[in-house]
Amino acid sequence: MIQQTLVLIKPDGLKKSLTGNILTRLSETKLEIAAAKMVRVSQELAEEHYEHMRDRPFFEELINYIRGELHARRKVMAMVYYGEDAIKKVRELAGATNPEEANSVSIRGAYGRVTTKGVYENVIHTSTSEEEAEREIKLWFNPDEIIFDVYETEVITRDNVKERGWKKR
Ligand code: PPS
Repeated sequence: MIQQTLVLIKPDGLKKSLTGNILTRLSETKLEIAAAKMVRVSQELAEEHYEHMRDRPFFEELINYIRGELHARRKVMAMVYYGEDAIKKVRELAGATNPEEANSVSIRGAYGRVTTKGVYENVIHTSTSEEEAEREIKLWFNPDEIIFDVYETEVITRDNVKERGWKKR
């Protein structure tokens, strides 16, 4: 089944200079990168991404972590991988969510850790299901940032919307 999945290289992955390594590992899947960008994660984006974790005692730590507050790297690399069984293929390479339970040759098993506060610093995020992938991809990307329409789109006309643009010389 052709699928798309969201992959985030989290601030610890960036701080540990693992980007190249992670991309090389993910290239083993032969999936296509349909979108990629660096993102400064706002409080709102972080809270919406982890909305299902809101009741957990470590929610605030989780938000601080994805926003880069713990690693002095206030950015993540966000990507959409596309192709046959994309969700399963990426999750297999990523390894279990808990780095201590992850296979030691997986990305999280090799590079992740659990903090003293019990938060998983697991280097990458990957979508768990088609429903979650759709929710997450629509949250992190606009249609024009993805090289093809992975979901249905529509043209939205907005009046009086001010946008920042490049200053003309
Ligand atoms: S669930 O309900 O536990 O299955 O949730 P899941 O969809 O796997 O997402 C959990 C995200 O929270 C991060 N996280 C933790 N989960 C459970 N326990 C602890 N201690 C914990 N610390 C952090 C976990 O890494 C998941 O985020 P992502 O970004 O997917 O790794």
